[in-house]
Amino acid sequence: MNEIIITTATVTGISAIFAFLLTLADKTIGNYGEVKLTINNDKEYIVNGGSSLLSTLIEEKIFIPSACGGKGTCGYCKVKVIDGGGPVLPTETPFLTEDELKDNIRLSCQCKVKENIKIQIPEELFNVKEYIATVEEIEDMTSVIKRLRIRLPEGEEIKFKPGQFIQFKAPIYDGNDEEVYRAYSIASSPSDKGYIELFIGYVPGGKCTTYVHKHLKVGDTVQINGPYGDFYFHDDNDREVILVAAGTGIAPILSILKHMKEYNINRKARFYFGAKTPDDLFLLDYFKELEETLFDFKFIPTLSRVSEEHNWTGEKGRVNNTIERHLESPENKEAYLCGNPPMIDSMVKALVNKGLPEELIYFDKFD
Ligand code: FES
Repeated sequence: MNEIIITTATVTGISAIFAFLLTLADKTIGNYGEVKLTINNDKEYIVNGGSSLLSTLIEEKIFIPSACGGKGTCGYCKVKVIDGGGPVLPTETPFLTEDELKDNIRLSCQCKVKENIKIQIPEELFNVKEYIATVEEIEDMTSVIKRLRIRLPEGEEIKFKPGQFIQFKAPIYDGNDEEVYRAYSIASSPSDKGYIELFIGYVPGGKCTTYVHKHLKVGDTVQINGPYGDFYFHDDNDREVILVAAGTGIAPILSILKHMKEYNINRKARFYFGAKTPDDLFLLDYFKELEETLFDFKFIPTLSRVSEEHNWTGEKGRVNNTIERHLESPENKEAYLCGNPPMIDSMVKALVNKGLPEELIYFDKFD
């Protein structure tokens, strides 16, 4: 009996010492004290070391795009680290090109702040703000795409260019035990001040899309931040505008078209939209109206899975083939593409083959 008591007491004692050492190690090794974060050579912040660069920046209300919530799976959170970021981690390399590695670009969610650190970020990221907004409308556009109209807090607005995106936070809910941010293009026009609209497609198992499609209600508050992105409409020229999208990629294209209408931009525009069946098409009346009211606009949907009973008389097959048929000359044209990576890659190829200069093909790839 005595032996049992002694053994139990010994094991308990060793465990307590071990736990104490672990706590001490965590406190000493994980605690890097205060360090200096210098941004763009002229802004200095004293921050607590030990967190990821992404979290440290968020603490300072500086928002970097991040669609995976800092898990190192989206590759959005790139930042140039001039000094003090430590070695590049294996979790970063799949997302960084040779040129980016040479240029000291890092994934800010993987790079830890352990010492004084100097970084460089685009100045416009200082304009990114966080908003607690209210869902005013939810509309089914198709069986898998919802339109959200979101009201910003009284007196606030997001100053964005048509084509840019925001990040939307999905909270913890039944079936999801972590907060995640996902990126969505803004579908409304910048002049629709006080509001933004988003088109969110349902992805089975997707944390944010499940939240929006199965849990979100009119009147709920949501947390968003933005604007972000270097995909936006260039309104400093008179080139013909070629717009291409599939599914929810329609959102930034809508923002561009609304902007063109509001500012009476007299440029020829063609919108090539790819879908599977007629059930995947939406806003047809709106595009018809645009064909009558915009300077020289045509909406050209292409369906890839139509059968006899659909009675579809429009374009069939792949959108790149439709463009090849319609595009006569590459002169004085620029293109805006929004869709998944394979679609964008095949579009860029088709447009370059037609003679469009690559630097006039702007695109926003999303999965
Ligand atoms: S936030 Fe997604 S990779 Fe860093």
